[in-house]
Amino acid sequence: MYVDSKFISDVVNGFAEVCPGDSQLCVAKDMFGAPNYASEVFQYVYAMRYVPAYYFEYCVLASELSSRVKGYAHLNVASIGAGLCQDYYALRDNVKIPFTYSAYDAVQWAARARMPPVGDNFNIVAKSAQKISAGDLADVDVYFFPKSLSDIAGSGNGVLSAFGGNIAATKKKRLFFLVSYVSAGINKSPASQDFSDIDKALTAAGFSTTDQVRGSFYRGDKNGEGLRALHQNFIYPSNVKISCSSQDGLKCIKCDAIKSPIYKNTHMSFSIMEYTK
Ligand SMILES: C[S@@+](CC[C@H](N)C(=O)[O-])C[C@H]1O[C@@H](n2cnc3c(N)ncnc32)[C@H](O)[C@@H]1O
Repeated sequence: MYVDSKFISDVVNGFAEVCPGDSQLCVAKDMFGAPNYASEVFQYVYAMRYVPAYYFEYCVLASELSSRVKGYAHLNVASIGAGLCQDYYALRDNVKIPFTYSAYDAVQWAARARMPPVGDNFNIVAKSAQKISAGDLADVDVYFFPKSLSDIAGSGNGVLSAFGGNIAATKKKRLFFLVSYVSAGINKSPASQDFSDIDKALTAAGFSTTDQVRGSFYRGDKNGEGLRALHQNFIYPSNVKISCSSQDGLKCIKCDAIKSPIYKNTHMSFSIMEYTK
């Protein structure tokens, strides 16, 4: 597995430059309550807090994918709920064959413009899972759900079943699913249940897998291991900190602004599944 420490420092330092400091985070009020993905300030904080650790997790998935696709000359990847697209960089850094990447999201992430440069294999498609047709998916070999399944499931009744039906309706006979689940911590979350609607739709259409569908794996031997201990290139810039001096005990308890970035494997939860028919 390859982890690009320069990608991590470019993202964190780049967003630190534009992220409002101190009490302006609070004034922006974008950090309160439910995730506010459409807010650019929220996106800056998200980038600094989550992108390095999630990129690391997606590198694990991408390197596993790379070891399974030796016979392919090219791959088409669809990332559903792509956000800032750090999965693209993980694929770029770990998949050894050419690929085309299409990022789908219900929300426009304006802060993507501040992410490191991408190649001409990168496409943005402003569509929610509800709007993606079987025709859109005709050439897709690899589906990436980067911490997005539970949000997509919550965006409407039956969305994942219908989406699974569209996947199953394509002519592809071999499909890969790279899923990273939102996790409250190792062994705390039944996160992988969200994939079952897609699994049912695939199974009903004659697909099967020998991978563990309800499995959800993390890297490391024990809960709480530092990502740096798992890979020497996970280096979060030590000079950057999301801080707020107006933090005021209980009054600020609902404010999400100053949580620490993720440095440990505690929130890793992922699985890779290969379906054939
Ligand atoms: C937790 S964020 C993950 C973002 C990014 N993939 C990452 O790894 O950081 C969940 C994403 O799912 C997107 N999303 C939620 N409902 C969706 C839907 N119905 N269709 C497509 N994307 C959706 C959100 O807009 C958000 O970008």
